[in-house]
Amino acid sequence: MLNEEILHFFKKRAGYVPGKEISRCLKISRAAIWKHIHELKDLGYDITSVPHLGYKLTSLADRLFPWEIKYHLKNKLIGKVIHYYQALGSTMEEAEQLALSGAAEGTLIIAEGQTKGRGRMGRTWISPKYQGIYFSLILRPQLLPGSTPILTLLAAVSICEAIGQACELEARIKWPNDILIQDRKLGGILTELSAEIDLTHFVVLGVGLNVNNNTKTLVNGATSLKQEKKEAVNRIILLQEILHALEKNYLLIEKKSNSKIIDKWRVFSTTLGKRIKVISSKRHLEGEAIDIDIDGGLLLRRDSGLIEKIMAGDVVYCR
Ligand code: BTN
Repeated sequence: MLNEEILHFFKKRAGYVPGKEISRCLKISRAAIWKHIHELKDLGYDITSVPHLGYKLTSLADRLFPWEIKYHLKNKLIGKVIHYYQALGSTMEEAEQLALSGAAEGTLIIAEGQTKGRGRMGRTWISPKYQGIYFSLILRPQLLPGSTPILTLLAAVSICEAIGQACELEARIKWPNDILIQDRKLGGILTELSAEIDLTHFVVLGVGLNVNNNTKTLVNGATSLKQEKKEAVNRIILLQEILHALEKNYLLIEKKSNSKIIDKWRVFSTTLGKRIKVISSKRHLEGEAIDIDIDGGLLLRRDSGLIEKIMAGDVVYCR
């Protein structure tokens, strides 16, 4: 806690802060300050000290520390509680365990790296440490299980909005949950549900984003924000923007304004209007993606003219 108070002190001031001022305000000895400054440096903060002038915070650590994510974040729900890990197998399992033991709605589980990151359809999500953003969010929505796919659309829209704000890049969505830039995959969303037939217990929204990922670790056809922007991206600012957008859009769901999410989704979609193949474990379908319905299902017009609603599957664009 004291480390956070010292950081707060530095952030309020642009220049050097004399040790004796910190000591007086926080009621700790100069030796204690020295010890805390060392702890902060060990965490990756850049702090310079100049005799007679004091200390100055030169740069933050490139870590998604909860106190940095919460700094200036005005959310009332999403990210109010953050569990932070250097490494996990998968944030999904941790989130599920926490949700089962009663964790509050909005609880966020962040890992700097994952050893068993999971993607959709049994795939692996490559999650190298300190390069991307990997998190799971616990939600307890007042939605019937059949209506929860709207949450995947909500997450996709929120991520695109946040990338626009934080990175000034135009991210788009490929149904149901791929985040693309220039047709290359940048991120994905994995939504898992705990429910009975007519009752949703909780939803875990898992988000994986390639941010500053080394191009060598990216799978074929994938990209990262760093690759697109040609410079490293501040992961803290981006994650704050994502959480802010998630909260704003989740409020729309709580107010039963699902159509507003769908409207935004249509704007970010690269799928609508395209001839596509949908591949699921059960069947392969081809046709034109004509729209999305209120539950998030994709409406596909087959060559016969029949319109089918698809709730799950992988989409391939036909040339
Ligand atoms: C996809 O297949 O496109 C979805 C990828 C989702 C990856 C994220 S990373 C954080 C969370 N933990 C996981 O194991 N998976 C999700």
